[in-house]
Amino acid sequence: MPGRLLNILVVLGTRPEAIKLAPVISRLRRDRSSFRVRVCVTAQHRQMLDQVLGIFRIAPDIDMDLMRAGQDLFDVSTGVIGGMRRILLAERPDAIVVQGDTTTAFAAALAAFYLRIPVAHVEAGLRTHDKYSPFPEEGNRRLLSVLADFHFAPTETARRNLLASGVAAEKIWVTGNTVIDALRMIRRRLRAPQAQKRWLEYFRQSFDLELDDEKQRIILVTGHRRENFGRGLRQVCLALREIARRDPRLRVIYPVHLNPNVQKPVQAILRGLPRVRLIEPLAYEPFVFLMGRAHLILTDSGGIQEEAPALGKPVLVMRRETERPEGILSGGVKLVGTNRLAIVRQVLELLQDGEAYRRMAHVANPYGDGKAAQRIAAVLASGLGGS
Ligand code: UD1
Ligand code: UDP
Repeated sequence: MPGRLLNILVVLGTRPEAIKLAPVISRLRRDRSSFRVRVCVTAQHRQMLDQVLGIFRIAPDIDMDLMRAGQDLFDVSTGVIGGMRRILLAERPDAIVVQGDTTTAFAAALAAFYLRIPVAHVEAGLRTHDKYSPFPEEGNRRLLSVLADFHFAPTETARRNLLASGVAAEKIWVTGNTVIDALRMIRRRLRAPQAQKRWLEYFRQSFDLELDDEKQRIILVTGHRRENFGRGLRQVCLALREIARRDPRLRVIYPVHLNPNVQKPVQAILRGLPRVRLIEPLAYEPFVFLMGRAHLILTDSGGIQEEAPALGKPVLVMRRETERPEGILSGGVKLVGTNRLAIVRQVLELLQDGEAYRRMAHVANPYGDGKAAQRIAAVLASGLGGS
């Protein structure tokens, strides 16, 4: 006798949540005998979210359309909690699924908790153990660990962090990170020769960039962390300016996050420099293509620290700490902070020392086997008592 369908509401708001939940949505939808899946976007991000939804062909069932220019943490959290009250009362899901450590994830989980609706947390258990770094993400993660009922840890380290936070062992599942599932989906598409031609042409036409020029070395840059706003980000930009000056073969390509706190200093310091190209945020498929063509990556992003080792690209992380120690231990990721001189020195060393470069480029990917979404779906089907 088949059981009843489980109603799952997947809630997401920003670019990285969409990338990391796309495989989960796709997997849950595939199991039509167990789940009825609805997707709610808060649209904490607008353009950057829509880019990802488009690439993964996800049409949201509910769109809260919350993003406002220059929003603060109160705007986003009150908007999400208020909106979710109405949505959860109407939808009455058996569980909600959230991902990571954004304010969307935390506030949606809080709203579900108020209505005693179970919360499944994907990418649970990351910690820096410093409440203010990254801010507010470390706080959001810890709060989510209190609110959630299903804790999907990407790695063993994350599982240990959850146990240390007092989460019961039987509520934790080590699944791998769903970002590897997403990356594999996109890399499969990129393997087609037409895809390679199409994206080479896209970068040529849209940004006047020749990504198949063997003589060039591409340094790919992204950055958006709140704790780097102001001095940290200015130091990063000054370092990039200096690095680009040193070697005519270098191309610094920087898809600039749309947050005005990022746009302003980056444009002011780097716009118009001959070997630096500031471009708009890229959709996920061309971004993965660009990572594949990069020589090295400089970033403060979380997701990119997980993707780059799987692509064989060294990553220098412009932060003092990371909640992703596995990448550092694998040897593919190095913390360089936000000091101008330190960044310049470490980048130049890596450009000059072929052996050090090879060591960073050839590491085992510590973030999973691409089957995380499958494991999550299986746990939800049995854990919520479906068919
Ligand atoms: C948010 C998350 C952060 C995550 C990051 C991923 C919180 C508190 N922060 O930070 O954890 O790592 O997303 O990128 O949840 N904007 C646009 N268009 C967009 C997106 C952003 O114009 O598509 C601009 C808007 O002016 C917006 C501002 O960026 O007000 C800030 O967006 P917000 O989501 O509040 O913060 P992020 O820095 O993007
Ligand atoms: N990314 C993208 N386009 C870009 C820059 C990044 O698709 O122009 C992807 C990247 O591959 C990674 C994710 O966005 O999967 C990271 O998002 P972000 O840095 O905004 O957030 P974080 O991971 O730091 O939370």
